[in-house]
Amino acid sequence: MSVLIVAVDGPAAAGKGTLAKALADVLGLPHLDTGLLYRAVARRMILEGLDPQRDDGEALARRLDQADLARADLRVPEIDRGASGVATQPGVRAALLQRQRDFARASGGVIDGRDIGTVVFPDASVKLFVTASPRTRALRRFRQLHGDAPLSDAGLTALTDDIAARDRQDETRPVSPLKRAEDAVVIETDALDSAAVLARALEIVRASQ
Ligand code: C5P
Repeated sequence: MSVLIVAVDGPAAAGKGTLAKALADVLGLPHLDTGLLYRAVARRMILEGLDPQRDDGEALARRLDQADLARADLRVPEIDRGASGVATQPGVRAALLQRQRDFARASGGVIDGRDIGTVVFPDASVKLFVTASPRTRALRRFRQLHGDAPLSDAGLTALTDDIAARDRQDETRPVSPLKRAEDAVVIETDALDSAAVLARALEIVRASQ
């Protein structure tokens, strides 16, 4: 019997990480957030004085270890941009590909990212594409970063611009761009809370079995 692999793709801050983690808990599968791999490469490059947008990150991508991935400081704006930069490099993507495939080989998993249903696991059992408008995504990112702090127009505009820039870089890069796999089911999360997104995803997973 083949293992269950659920691919969860979508743009930044659409809720795919939250969904993938909850789905993995309910289904009893391991979860891999592949964005962390690109973030960890960007962090190491910045620490070594390299520019993630321009310098070659392949050697560092091959040397990533568990400690790099467990860092608590991977979700800051500088690393958001750096990760999107290193993710355009074919050598970095190739270095991380086998690692992602090995993760789910034995017992399956819920894997989230940008190219999971298109490149990493084109034969995944279920493919979900989770998305929301840029404004909804910026609001969610603001709450993640600042909790209940009052919402400032300037702060929200800056985050919306950052998210739009990352979307552009992710969607237009020549290697493994962010795009919906033809056989992925889209979940629009603008009007859904995380429990409703999970319920919808479970319906889709169960219908596929
Ligand atoms: O998902 P997250 O926002 O943590 O991803 C950080 C960056 O890593 C994304 O903007 C994207 O450029 C890159 N990424 C990717 N392919 C993946 C996961 C993330 O290119 N599978």
